[in-house]
Amino acid sequence: MKMILLGAPGAGKGTQAEIISKKLSIPTISTGNILRAAIKNGTPVGLKVKAYMESGALVPDEVIIGIMKERLAEPDCLGGYILDGMPRTIAQAEALEDAGIDVDVAIEIQASDDSIAARLTGRRTCLTCGATYHVETNPPKKENVCDKCGGALIRRHDDEPETVKHRLKVYHKETEPLIDFYRSREKLRSVADNSIEETAAEIFVTLGIKN
Ligand code: AP5
Ligand code: ZN
Repeated sequence: MKMILLGAPGAGKGTQAEIISKKLSIPTISTGNILRAAIKNGTPVGLKVKAYMESGALVPDEVIIGIMKERLAEPDCLGGYILDGMPRTIAQAEALEDAGIDVDVAIEIQASDDSIAARLTGRRTCLTCGATYHVETNPPKKENVCDKCGGALIRRHDDEPETVKHRLKVYHKETEPLIDFYRSREKLRSVADNSIEETAAEIFVTLGIKN
């Protein structure tokens, strides 16, 4: 299955992507994680995108489109994938279509701006593998240590309250129009703002997969 996860920053795309990826044995492709790794490794792409990401702005479409075409051509994507964080603009969605990259479904994870603020302030992200936790709703077994790889957990730069406000503004302007874009293609499914487990269960029902 080829699917897109849509939703505001902090709506839970990364969290749900991890659950779906395990269940369906398909890779998650997170543009946010790819870009953060590029910054950490000091690659030319990383140097180009650092300032955009730290301020909560979108990275230019052509950078994202180049990364995605390369990543989706890799062999592990043949059996399907979950796109987490891409497309984020109509131009990116059209570029996927123009490249013949079709998706079966776009799942919108709904969340109010208020619950997003609470989620992002409490989020902790693994410096090594990118896994995310929440101090209250999804804590690691040992404080500030990643369950998966033992890496250190930090608060992302762009999870500071002022930057979150800006990211939400950008989301409503640039990304929200994608909901109508995929609705018009009869590919949109929406799931309500709920607990992590309930949201996952609703996604599996929506996809017709036994939980
Ligand atoms: P990216 O990394 O994609 O960030 P984002 O979309 O802002 O999404 P987040 O990772 O913040 O949130 P999420 O929805 O994955 O939530 P999560 O599961 O972590 O992008 C970062 C930046 O990169 C962008 O600002 C931009 O600069 C650039 N970029 C990336 N892609 C781009 C593109 N295509 N084009 C241009 N620029 C691009 O959950 C959040 C927290 O809540 C966690 O702590 C989690 O444990 C908790 N939680 C999750 N679900 C629930 C729940 N149901 N109930 C309670 N708590 C929950
Ligand atoms: Zn980790």
